[in-house]
Amino acid sequence: MKGVLAARDAQPAEALDGGAAWPLAEPFRIAGVAMPNRVVQAPLAGIANWAFRRQSRRHGAGLCVSEMVASYGVHHGNRRTLAMLRVLPGEAPMAIQLFGADRAVMAEAARAVEAAGADLIDVNMGCPVPKITKTGAGAALLDDPDGAAGIVEAMARAVDIPVMAKMRRGTTPSRARPVDVALRLEAAGAAALCVHPRAAAEEYSGAADHAVTAQVAAAVSIPVIASGDIGTPGEALRVVEGAGAAAVAIGRAALGNPWAFGEIASGRLRPRPELAEVVDEIECFAAEVVEALGPDRAVGYMRRFYPWYLAGQPVDDGALRRMQREPTVEGAVAILHRPRAAAPVPA
Ligand SMILES: Cc1cc2nc3c(=O)[nH]c(=O)nc-3n(C[C@H](O)[C@H](O)[C@H](O)COP(=O)(O)O)c2cc1C
Repeated sequence: MKGVLAARDAQPAEALDGGAAWPLAEPFRIAGVAMPNRVVQAPLAGIANWAFRRQSRRHGAGLCVSEMVASYGVHHGNRRTLAMLRVLPGEAPMAIQLFGADRAVMAEAARAVEAAGADLIDVNMGCPVPKITKTGAGAALLDDPDGAAGIVEAMARAVDIPVMAKMRRGTTPSRARPVDVALRLEAAGAAALCVHPRAAAEEYSGAADHAVTAQVAAAVSIPVIASGDIGTPGEALRVVEGAGAAAVAIGRAALGNPWAFGEIASGRLRPRPELAEVVDEIECFAAEVVEALGPDRAVGYMRRFYPWYLAGQPVDDGALRRMQREPTVEGAVAILHRPRAAAPVPA
C-alpha cells in the first residue's frame, strides 16, 4: 500500500486530451446490464461497503463492486454477512461479490444477492488468503477449472441477473492456465470476467502483466475488465487499448483518492485537491461509514483511511497520530478543523 501512495505523490502530470472521444467515457454492457462508462470500482474486502461504493459512484465509477461476501455466511444467516448484502436505492449498476466452493451454497447465496437488489453477481476466484484457499474457494478455484465452471453454471441457473467472475492469472506462475480457465468460465455461463493478472502466490508483488489480460480478452467473446496497477487516465487507456479490455477496475489507487474515478472516466487529470476539499470529502464519507457500520466499527475502518487521504497534505504527523487515537470518528475529523498553527495576529 505504501508503494501506491509513493507512486501517487510522484505521479507526473499527463498530457491527455480527454473529452468526447475518450474511450473510457463510453458505455458498455455485461449481458443486459448497461454501465455508463468503463471505470469499475474493484472489489475490496473489508472496504467496499455501501458507503465506499456510494462515494466511488459519486466520483464517477460506472460500476461498483462490493467487498467479498461469504456464501456460507449467507447460508447460515450470519447477521453481519447479511448486512453486507444491503444495496441502497440508486446504487445501480452494482455487483455483489461472493466467495465459496460449494455449488449449492453458492447458488443459494446468488439467489439472496438477486433478492437484495444487485444487478450483477461476481464470483471471487482471486483471493490468495490461505484461510479462503484452503476451503477450495478464492484463487484455489483456478487450479480446479471443473469446480470453478460448475459453480458458475449452478449460480447462473439459479438467478436471472448476470454472473461474472474475477480471476487471477493462476495460483502460481507455473500452474497458471488463465486462457483455459477463462474459456471454461465463459462456456459455463459467465457474462464477463475481471482479470487481475498476478498469480495468487505473487499476492501484490511485481507489476500486473496485462499481456495476460490481453490473451484472455482475445480468447473469449464476453467483456473482460482489467484490474491491477491502474490509477491514471494514461494507464487506463494503455490497458484498454493494449489488452483489448472492455473496462478497467480501480482498487488501491482510489483509496483516499476517489477523484481517480472521475479522472479516469473523463480522461482529464485535475489538480490535487486542496486540504479543505479533502476534509469535506472525509467528513461526507465518514458520516456514511458511521451509518453503514455503526459508530464503533466505523472508528477502526476510518483509521485506515486517514493516512491515505492526508498523504501529501499539510497535516503534521502529530495531528495524524491524534486522529488515530481518537475514540470517535467525529473527534478524529474535528482535529482537522483545529487551527494548525497559531497564526500571528495582525497588529
Ligand atoms: C485491501 C484489498 C482488498 C481486496 N479485496 C478483494 C476482494 O474482496 N475480492 C477481489 O476479487 N479482489 C480483491 N482485491 C483485489 C483488487 O480488487 C484488485 O484486483 C487488486 O488490488 C489489483 O488492483 P489495483 O492495483 O487497482 O489495486 C483486494 C485488494 C486489496 C488491496
